[in-house]
Amino acid sequence: MGEQTGRKKQTGKSALKMQPVSSAAAEFTFQIPAVEIARSLLEWFKPEARPMPWRDPRSEGTPLSDYAYGIWISESMLQQTQVSTVIPYWKRWMEKWPRVASLAAACEEEVLLMWEGLGYYNRARNLLKAARKVMEIHGGVFPSRHEELLELPGVGPYTAGAVCSIAYNHPRAIVDGNVIRLLSRLFTLSFTQRPSELKPQDLLWQISESLVRAAAEIEHPQSCSAFNQAMMDMGATICTPTNPLCLTCPLSPHCKAYKEQSQSQYPQPPARPALVLREDTALLVRDAGKNILLQKRTATGRNHGFWQLPLVENTPLPKAQEAFHPLRLSFISREPLARLQHHITCYRITLKVYPGKTDGGFSQGENLRFFSEKELGAIPVTSSHRKLLQKIL
Ligand code: ADE
Repeated sequence: MGEQTGRKKQTGKSALKMQPVSSAAAEFTFQIPAVEIARSLLEWFKPEARPMPWRDPRSEGTPLSDYAYGIWISESMLQQTQVSTVIPYWKRWMEKWPRVASLAAACEEEVLLMWEGLGYYNRARNLLKAARKVMEIHGGVFPSRHEELLELPGVGPYTAGAVCSIAYNHPRAIVDGNVIRLLSRLFTLSFTQRPSELKPQDLLWQISESLVRAAAEIEHPQSCSAFNQAMMDMGATICTPTNPLCLTCPLSPHCKAYKEQSQSQYPQPPARPALVLREDTALLVRDAGKNILLQKRTATGRNHGFWQLPLVENTPLPKAQEAFHPLRLSFISREPLARLQHHITCYRITLKVYPGKTDGGFSQGENLRFFSEKELGAIPVTSSHRKLLQKIL
């Protein structure tokens, strides 16, 4: 099962072995002491690995495919989210859906509810789609081949590399924020030394691959798995964005930025788009029984399938009044009940909620209906509106 690692066991304490990382351009060869770096990182990781429940050793009788499913879930949750936030989500998820078959049988609303608070909800929708595809195409066995993983919805090179290496111990590269910082400092990558046809990301992937291939040569029961996780932990705990702990870093003898004391200059920040200010307006409408009117986000755009207070985006008062006419809703007062500041991509949004009412022509529909306060806990609600409702209720 799975791809070949092509692993050769390395014996003895070899002299520094320089491994070339070369691009398509013949004149560009980048020499790195890959085996030495891999060995130092593996030694460091033994006592320093951060405990995480998905890292617990596979219990006897658990198929490797089920273990890989858990790694895939953890990696999907960890994108844009800190480990400490993910741990309780991962435990709840694995209790409810311990195998890919159980997830595939879930419905989208349950999955979104379980994911609520992690944001970027397409990740949750894709997990469900991918689980169903694994059932259909792979008979419920979580794939181990990089190319097969890339065919699953929501799985890109990072997640495919992480699952292949962490779960299956294959020498597959990973590049995330932590790895970018670590490698940029280690080799002072300014990306001016590369040939023009090589993108900065390509160079990072090539270096990462060289290193994990070197790790595969080292005598260790799970060297590729441990090496990639060690890079992530090193980036999170030692090679931090500010005040890196270079004095305790096992890679400092190899680190060019440390030698030059230029750590703070790496990685070079990407150009950021300017923030755009925006005001959104929502209405809190209650019926005679104190139930609250919510609107379901439609299939286009972010957060579809989620409920929220009736909302008009990028429209402050007085224009918002007209915008609510098609829903047969109007304002009771121009004094907001609550306000909230939040960010979405390049927008800095002020969300204001006003008291509102329905008019004579109003009728509930599939996507616009009243919920009791108790029912709110059982439906997916966008996190900004959940916070607002908590403020108001
Ligand atoms: N960040 C993303 N994936 C991770 C992992 N497997 N271990 C530690 N940090 C991570």
